[in-house]
Amino acid sequence: MRLLFVGDIVGASGRAVVKRYLPELIVNQQIDFVIANGENAAHGKGITPKIANELLAVGIEMITLGNHAYSKKDVLEIDSSIPLVFPANMEGARRSLSTRVVEIKGLRLAISNILTQVFMDYVDENPFDVMEDILEEVDADLYFVDLHGEATSEKIAFAYYFKDHLIAVCGTHTHVQTADERIIDGCAFITDVGMSGPFDSVIGRDVQEVLDRLVHNKHTRYTVADTDSMLCAVIIEIDEISKRSTSIERVQIRP
Ligand SMILES: [Fe+2]
Ligand SMILES: [Fe+2]
Repeated sequence: MRLLFVGDIVGASGRAVVKRYLPELIVNQQIDFVIANGENAAHGKGITPKIANELLAVGIEMITLGNHAYSKKDVLEIDSSIPLVFPANMEGARRSLSTRVVEIKGLRLAISNILTQVFMDYVDENPFDVMEDILEEVDADLYFVDLHGEATSEKIAFAYYFKDHLIAVCGTHTHVQTADERIIDGCAFITDVGMSGPFDSVIGRDVQEVLDRLVHNKHTRYTVADTDSMLCAVIIEIDEISKRSTSIERVQIRP
């Protein structure tokens, strides 16, 4: 079984790059299921029903979120028929939608979204405790986690702690792809998948606006940069007999 996981899709430019490359990636890489992080899909913050449907129409089958999950208020109107995965340990979280189980090739894959704690806001439960609860409460054959967080060490430690129970821990949130992908005893891991968003930018935002704030203390809106996007993703191969991951490969397509 081959999974494709696309990193944080940022704004219209990020959606455009996914639309452009996803169909050929699915065919050429013989992908069985596509997951993407959509927490920045709507103007860089959050997601709307319309944009979720737009992503589903291009081949994404499950959309994970993150600390920006609730930035657009109409996200609360989205019912469970739209495959969104909300953070499991965020204030106001829709916990019943924080792990979704899908069947792929006769195996039940549980997909969860969990926030780390270091340098992260609105986290109301330790991610390790949350993961223990998911493993106890959710019945599945394979467990995939989008671990959404800032600190590299925390994401690596999480992967080592849960490696025997998970098929993948894929980091998101920093928007910068790390080159540390590896298999840890059958668990695919990468500290951060990186974003699918504007290449000439500061993690997706307009360079000048970020500089105006950092250098001149000006209040800016952190508008999404209006430049062509890169696509960042990983491809994970899972052995269906042993139910363990055998490879993880980075994908990075620059404009
Ligand atoms: Fe993000
Ligand atoms: Fe984030």
